[in-house]
Amino acid sequence: MKFAILSRNAKLYSTQRLAEAARERGHVVRVLDPLRCYMSIAPGRFQMRYKGKELAGIDAVVPRIGASVSFYGTAVLRQFELMGAYSPNPSDAILRARDKLRCHQMLAGEGLGLPLTVFGDNPDDTTDLMGMLGKPPHVIKLNEGTQGNGVILAETTSASRGVIEAFRGLYANFLVQEFVAEAKGADLRCFVVGDRVVAAMRRQAGEGEFRSNLHRGGSASPVELTEAEIDTALRAARVMGLGVAGVDLLRSNSGPLVLEVNSSPGLEGIEAASGVDVAGAIVEFTAGGVLRPSRTPRRRTRGLTKA
Ligand SMILES: Nc1ncnc2c1ncn2[C@@H]1O[C@H](COP(=O)(O)OP(=O)(O)O)[C@@H](O)[C@H]1O
Ligand SMILES: [Mg+2]
Repeated sequence: MKFAILSRNAKLYSTQRLAEAARERGHVVRVLDPLRCYMSIAPGRFQMRYKGKELAGIDAVVPRIGASVSFYGTAVLRQFELMGAYSPNPSDAILRARDKLRCHQMLAGEGLGLPLTVFGDNPDDTTDLMGMLGKPPHVIKLNEGTQGNGVILAETTSASRGVIEAFRGLYANFLVQEFVAEAKGADLRCFVVGDRVVAAMRRQAGEGEFRSNLHRGGSASPVELTEAEIDTALRAARVMGLGVAGVDLLRSNSGPLVLEVNSSPGLEGIEAASGVDVAGAIVEFTAGGVLRPSRTPRRRTRGLTKA
């Protein structure tokens, strides 16, 4: 099959591993920078070009679209979809997952556990809003932050109010959550591929830090998930419509709570901690998707000669 990996940087660990795993399985692979893909859109006819040449006949696209290029990156992916390529993570699902607020609403709508979350717009409502959440500590999160950036622990009411007011002043979208203290600075990264959690790790925040992100100095170790954790991770990925997802869970007194569902989860930490060939699992699932008879038939644009 012809695979394209959409990634801004061919040298990144995750990109290299995916390319390698696809080649090992006999596929032809190209790494494409989404920002160098350009397209033309006409009724029933979708074209894509890359550095002056036509791109056609791509069977599968593995998107690795960073948060900074969500908009353009998903437009490129959508064009590939319209040209008949299969992506384990559809463009619409990636956009949904990027919006934490929407993600929380969708997960809660399916009855999945998550930390109690509030949000509001008007400063006049801040006191009541904080009352809905209960006593601090509170966790305040920028809606589109990643890698622990823009996630703040406010230990007192005045700190919480101060951060909320500051974010409002910056016209930032954010949400406020109860702090799940019993997680003790640890979370679980469950790597979902299709209908399986193929690998998992426990991440522990460094000294003096509550965020367990590896980018924030967290350390990873292998972990055995409970049935409830596996079930929660699979349901969360399914609700978001993602075939490949990094579902982050907190272990709480009331069971697993979903923190977020990542649509471009990194491979380096999870492959190192779990010893699993996660890239191989993604490639195999993606190739399976291309062949699945139930998926939408290819559009007729494929294989048309150049205009
Ligand atoms: N409500 C919470 N209670 C306790 N810890 C939290 C809470 N929310 C986030 N954290 C910690 O902060 C980290 C980053 O939060 P997260 O929502 O995953 O944002 P990001 O998208 O930036 O990774 C989590 O991995 C977790 O360790
Ligand atoms: Mg996270």
